[in-house]
Amino acid sequence: MSKGAKRPPGGGGHGSGRGTGGLRGRNVKQKLRTARGRKLSSTRWLRRQLSDPYVAEAGRLGYRSRAAFKLIQMDERYGLLRPGARVVDLGAAPGGWTQVAVERVGERGRVVGLDVSEMEPVAGAEILRGDFLEEDCLERLTVLLGGAPGEGVADAVLSDMAAPATGHRPTDHLRIVALAEAALDFAEAVLAPGGCFVAKVLQGGSEPELLKRLRLSFRRVHHVKPLASRADSAELYVVATGFRGRPEAEAAGPEG
Ligand SMILES: C[S@@+](CC[C@H](N)C(=O)[O-])C[C@H]1O[C@@H](n2cnc3c(N)ncnc32)[C@H](O)[C@@H]1O
Repeated sequence: MSKGAKRPPGGGGHGSGRGTGGLRGRNVKQKLRTARGRKLSSTRWLRRQLSDPYVAEAGRLGYRSRAAFKLIQMDERYGLLRPGARVVDLGAAPGGWTQVAVERVGERGRVVGLDVSEMEPVAGAEILRGDFLEEDCLERLTVLLGGAPGEGVADAVLSDMAAPATGHRPTDHLRIVALAEAALDFAEAVLAPGGCFVAKVLQGGSEPELLKRLRLSFRRVHHVKPLASRADSAELYVVATGFRGRPEAEAAGPEG
Protein backbone atom coordinates (compact mmCIF):
# COMPACT_ATOMS: atom_id res chain seq x y z
CA MET A 1 0.00 0.00 0.00
CA SER A 2 1.81 3.09 1.15
CA LYS A 3 5.41 4.05 0.94
CA GLY A 4 4.97 6.38 3.92
CA ALA A 5 2.53 6.50 6.76
CA LYS A 6 -0.47 4.23 7.26
CA ARG A 7 -3.79 5.29 5.84
CA PRO A 8 -6.34 6.93 8.12
CA PRO A 9 -9.26 4.64 8.89
CA GLY A 10 -11.77 4.77 6.07
CA GLY A 11 -9.84 7.57 4.40
CA GLY A 12 -7.71 5.39 2.20
CA GLY A 13 -9.36 5.53 -1.18
CA HIS A 14 -8.88 8.51 -3.39
CA GLY A 15 -12.06 10.55 -3.18
CA SER A 16 -13.53 8.21 -0.59
CA GLY A 17 -14.87 11.21 1.32
CA ARG A 18 -14.27 9.49 4.61
CA GLY A 19 -11.54 9.18 7.13
CA THR A 20 -11.11 12.60 8.63
CA GLY A 21 -14.36 14.52 8.91
CA GLY A 22 -15.48 12.32 11.78
CA LEU A 23 -12.58 13.39 13.91
CA ARG A 24 -14.00 16.72 14.91
CA GLY A 25 -16.08 16.34 18.02
CA ARG A 26 -14.57 13.05 19.02
CA ASN A 27 -14.21 12.98 22.78
CA VAL A 28 -10.51 12.85 23.42
CA LYS A 29 -9.74 13.16 27.09
CA GLN A 30 -6.19 13.35 28.19
CA LYS A 31 -4.90 14.54 31.50
CA LEU A 32 -2.71 17.55 31.57
CA ARG A 33 -0.11 17.43 34.24
CA THR A 34 0.70 20.73 35.84
CA ALA A 35 4.33 21.56 35.57
CA ARG A 36 5.76 24.06 37.97
CA GLY A 37 7.50 26.86 36.17
CA ARG A 38 5.99 26.19 32.78
CA LYS A 39 5.02 29.42 31.00
CA LEU A 40 1.29 30.07 30.63
CA SER A 41 1.61 30.21 26.83
CA SER A 42 3.32 26.81 26.65
CA THR A 43 0.78 25.33 29.05
CA ARG A 44 -1.99 26.59 26.78
CA TRP A 45 -0.20 25.18 23.74
CA LEU A 46 0.25 21.81 25.46
CA ARG A 47 -3.36 21.68 26.60
CA ARG A 48 -4.51 22.42 23.07
CA GLN A 49 -2.24 19.74 21.63
CA LEU A 50 -3.44 17.13 24.11
CA SER A 51 -7.10 17.83 23.51
CA ASP A 52 -6.79 18.07 19.72
CA PRO A 53 -8.21 14.96 18.03
CA TYR A 54 -6.11 15.60 14.90
CA VAL A 55 -2.90 15.59 16.92
CA ALA A 56 -3.92 12.27 18.49
CA GLU A 57 -4.92 10.77 15.16
CA ALA A 58 -1.73 11.97 13.45
CA GLY A 59 0.27 10.24 16.18
CA ARG A 60 -1.78 7.05 15.88
CA LEU A 61 -1.41 6.89 12.09
CA GLY A 62 2.24 7.90 11.97
CA TYR A 63 1.77 11.28 10.32
CA ARG A 64 4.38 13.82 11.30
CA SER A 65 1.93 16.68 11.61
CA ARG A 66 -1.78 17.29 12.11
CA ALA A 67 -1.49 19.34 8.91
CA ALA A 68 -1.62 16.00 7.03
CA PHE A 69 -5.40 16.01 7.56
CA LYS A 70 -5.80 19.39 5.87
CA LEU A 71 -4.36 17.95 2.66
CA ILE A 72 -6.38 14.75 3.03
CA GLN A 73 -9.57 16.80 3.38
CA MET A 74 -8.77 19.04 0.40
CA ASP A 75 -7.83 16.01 -1.70
CA GLU A 76 -11.06 14.24 -0.81
CA ARG A 77 -13.04 17.29 -1.86
CA TYR A 78 -11.19 18.29 -5.02
CA GLY A 79 -9.36 15.14 -6.20
CA LEU A 80 -5.90 16.68 -6.25
CA LEU A 81 -3.63 13.66 -5.82
CA ARG A 82 -4.27 11.05 -8.47
CA PRO A 83 -2.37 7.76 -8.66
CA GLY A 84 0.74 8.28 -10.80
CA ALA A 85 0.78 12.07 -10.31
CA ARG A 86 3.96 14.14 -10.01
CA VAL A 87 3.70 16.38 -6.95
CA VAL A 88 5.79 19.24 -5.57
CA ASP A 89 5.29 19.98 -1.86
CA LEU A 90 6.64 23.44 -0.93
CA GLY A 91 7.20 24.13 2.77
CA ALA A 92 7.15 20.42 3.43
CA ALA A 93 8.65 20.10 6.94
CA PRO A 94 8.04 18.19 9.11
CA GLY A 95 6.49 16.11 6.32
CA GLY A 96 2.78 15.43 6.89
CA TRP A 97 1.70 16.58 3.42
CA THR A 98 4.62 14.73 1.83
CA GLN A 99 3.53 11.50 3.54
CA VAL A 100 -0.03 11.94 2.31
CA ALA A 101 1.12 12.75 -1.23
CA VAL A 102 3.36 9.65 -1.36
CA GLU A 103 0.48 7.46 -0.18
CA ARG A 104 -1.97 8.85 -2.65
CA VAL A 105 0.12 8.99 -5.83
CA GLY A 106 1.36 5.45 -5.24
CA GLU A 107 4.33 3.63 -6.76
CA ARG A 108 3.96 5.20 -10.19
CA GLY A 109 3.86 8.75 -8.84
CA ARG A 110 6.65 11.10 -7.89
CA VAL A 111 6.83 13.43 -4.88
CA VAL A 112 9.42 16.16 -4.32
CA GLY A 113 9.36 18.09 -1.04
CA LEU A 114 11.21 21.31 -0.26
CA ASP A 115 11.77 23.18 2.96
CA VAL A 116 14.16 25.80 4.24
CA SER A 117 14.38 23.81 7.50
CA GLU A 118 15.97 20.44 7.89
CA MET A 119 13.55 17.55 7.49
CA GLU A 120 13.77 13.81 8.03
CA PRO A 121 13.55 11.83 4.81
CA VAL A 122 10.15 10.46 3.78
CA ALA A 123 10.22 7.04 2.12
CA GLY A 124 9.11 7.37 -1.48
CA ALA A 125 9.79 11.12 -1.74
CA GLU A 126 12.79 13.24 -2.70
CA ILE A 127 13.49 15.98 -0.19
CA LEU A 128 15.39 19.18 -0.92
CA ARG A 129 16.54 21.69 1.62
CA GLY A 130 16.54 25.32 0.56
CA ASP A 131 14.79 28.66 0.50
CA PHE A 132 12.14 28.58 -2.19
CA LEU A 133 12.68 32.28 -2.84
CA GLU A 134 16.29 31.63 -3.93
CA GLU A 135 16.57 31.12 -7.65
CA ASP A 136 18.69 27.95 -7.59
CA CYS A 137 15.89 26.21 -5.64
CA LEU A 138 13.57 26.42 -8.63
CA GLU A 139 16.20 24.89 -10.88
CA ARG A 140 16.99 22.11 -8.42
CA LEU A 141 13.30 21.29 -8.06
CA THR A 142 12.75 21.22 -11.80
CA VAL A 143 15.71 18.91 -12.33
CA LEU A 144 14.35 16.53 -9.67
CA LEU A 145 11.02 16.53 -11.47
CA GLY A 146 12.90 15.32 -14.52
CA GLY A 147 12.74 18.21 -16.95
CA ALA A 148 12.89 21.91 -17.67
CA PRO A 149 10.27 24.57 -16.98
CA GLY A 150 7.69 24.68 -19.73
CA GLU A 151 7.70 20.93 -20.27
CA GLY A 152 4.75 20.16 -18.01
CA VAL A 153 6.75 18.16 -15.49
CA ALA A 154 4.31 18.32 -12.55
CA ASP A 155 0.63 17.57 -12.01
CA ALA A 156 0.26 19.26 -8.61
CA VAL A 157 2.11 22.10 -6.90
CA LEU A 158 1.19 22.36 -3.21
CA SER A 159 2.41 25.14 -0.96
CA ASP A 160 1.88 25.13 2.79
CA MET A 161 4.76 27.60 3.16
CA ALA A 162 4.47 30.13 5.93
CA ALA A 163 7.14 32.35 7.40
CA PRO A 164 7.15 32.53 11.21
CA ALA A 165 4.34 34.90 12.31
CA THR A 166 5.43 38.37 13.41
CA GLY A 167 2.10 39.09 15.12
CA HIS A 168 1.75 42.17 12.90
CA ARG A 169 -1.10 41.10 10.68
CA PRO A 170 -0.41 43.24 7.59
CA THR A 171 3.23 42.11 7.55
CA ASP A 172 2.27 38.45 7.97
CA HIS A 173 -0.27 38.81 5.21
CA LEU A 174 2.21 40.40 2.79
CA ARG A 175 4.76 37.69 3.48
CA ILE A 176 2.36 34.82 2.97
CA VAL A 177 0.98 36.31 -0.25
CA ALA A 178 4.56 36.81 -1.54
CA LEU A 179 5.23 33.10 -0.91
CA ALA A 180 1.96 32.11 -2.61
CA GLU A 181 2.76 34.31 -5.63
CA ALA A 182 6.24 32.80 -5.93
CA ALA A 183 4.68 29.32 -5.71
CA LEU A 184 2.23 30.29 -8.45
CA ASP A 185 5.09 31.53 -10.70
CA PHE A 186 6.67 28.12 -10.25
CA ALA A 187 3.39 26.26 -10.79
CA GLU A 188 2.74 28.12 -14.04
CA ALA A 189 6.21 27.15 -15.24
CA VAL A 190 6.09 23.44 -14.39
CA LEU A 191 2.45 22.27 -14.40
CA ALA A 192 1.08 20.10 -17.15
CA PRO A 193 -2.33 21.09 -18.56
CA GLY A 194 -5.07 19.95 -16.18
CA GLY A 195 -2.73 20.26 -13.18
CA CYS A 196 -3.64 21.77 -9.82
CA PHE A 197 -2.26 24.29 -7.36
CA VAL A 198 -2.81 24.75 -3.61
CA ALA A 199 -1.40 27.60 -1.52
CA LYS A 200 -1.83 28.85 1.99
CA VAL A 201 -3.12 32.43 2.36
CA LEU A 202 -4.69 34.37 5.24
CA GLN A 203 -8.38 35.04 5.79
CA GLY A 204 -9.64 38.60 5.60
CA GLY A 205 -6.74 39.96 3.62
CA SER A 206 -7.33 40.71 0.00
CA GLU A 207 -5.05 39.19 -2.58
CA PRO A 208 -6.69 40.48 -5.78
CA GLU A 209 -3.59 40.09 -7.95
CA LEU A 210 -3.14 36.48 -6.93
CA LEU A 211 -6.81 35.68 -7.56
CA LYS A 212 -6.77 37.43 -10.92
CA ARG A 213 -3.80 35.36 -12.04
CA LEU A 214 -5.31 32.14 -10.69
CA ARG A 215 -8.56 32.74 -12.59
CA LEU A 216 -6.65 33.30 -15.82
CA SER A 217 -4.51 30.19 -15.45
CA PHE A 218 -6.99 27.69 -13.95
CA ARG A 219 -10.53 26.66 -14.81
CA ARG A 220 -11.72 26.51 -11.18
CA VAL A 221 -10.52 28.49 -8.14
CA HIS A 222 -11.79 27.97 -4.57
CA HIS A 223 -11.04 29.36 -1.13
CA VAL A 224 -11.03 26.51 1.37
CA LYS A 225 -10.85 26.25 5.16
CA PRO A 226 -10.37 22.52 5.79
CA LEU A 227 -12.00 21.17 8.95
CA ALA A 228 -8.55 20.33 10.29
CA SER A 229 -7.49 23.98 10.06
CA ARG A 230 -7.91 25.47 13.50
CA ALA A 231 -11.01 27.66 13.71
CA ASP A 232 -9.11 30.38 15.55
CA SER A 233 -6.44 30.61 12.87
CA ALA A 234 -6.72 33.03 9.96
CA GLU A 235 -5.24 30.38 7.69
CA LEU A 236 -7.08 29.62 4.47
CA TYR A 237 -6.10 27.83 1.25
CA VAL A 238 -6.62 28.67 -2.39
CA VAL A 239 -7.24 25.53 -4.41
CA ALA A 240 -7.04 25.90 -8.19
CA THR A 241 -7.71 23.03 -10.56
CA GLY A 242 -7.73 22.54 -14.32
CA PHE A 243 -4.51 24.34 -15.31
CA ARG A 244 -5.08 25.79 -18.77
CA GLY A 245 -1.45 25.39 -19.83
CA ARG A 246 1.02 28.08 -20.66
CA PRO A 247 0.11 30.54 -23.35
CA GLU A 248 1.81 29.36 -26.60
CA ALA A 249 3.92 32.48 -27.13
CA GLU A 250 5.27 32.45 -23.58
CA ALA A 251 5.97 28.70 -23.58
CA ALA A 252 7.88 29.01 -26.84
CA GLY A 253 10.07 31.85 -25.51
CA PRO A 254 10.69 35.30 -27.00
CA GLU A 255 11.88 33.88 -30.32
CA GLY A 256 9.19 31.23 -30.62
C1 LIG B 1 3.06 24.99 8.25
S1 LIG B 1 4.65 24.38 7.93
C2 LIG B 1 4.35 23.08 6.77
C3 LIG B 1 3.76 21.84 7.36
C4 LIG B 1 3.74 20.69 6.36
N1 LIG B 1 2.82 20.96 5.27
C5 LIG B 1 3.35 19.39 7.00
O1 LIG B 1 2.35 18.82 6.62
O2 LIG B 1 4.10 18.90 7.84
C6 LIG B 1 5.33 25.63 6.94
C7 LIG B 1 6.74 25.36 6.42
O3 LIG B 1 7.08 26.33 5.44
C8 LIG B 1 8.48 26.45 5.46
N2 LIG B 1 8.90 27.66 4.73
C9 LIG B 1 8.58 28.94 5.01
N3 LIG B 1 9.18 29.77 4.14
C10 LIG B 1 9.89 28.99 3.27
C11 LIG B 1 10.71 29.26 2.14
N4 LIG B 1 10.96 30.53 1.72
N5 LIG B 1 11.28 28.23 1.48
C12 LIG B 1 11.04 26.95 1.90
N6 LIG B 1 10.29 26.63 2.97
C13 LIG B 1 9.70 27.64 3.65
C14 LIG B 1 8.79 26.49 6.95
O4 LIG B 1 10.15 26.18 7.20
C15 LIG B 1 7.82 25.45 7.51
O5 LIG B 1 8.43 24.21 7.68
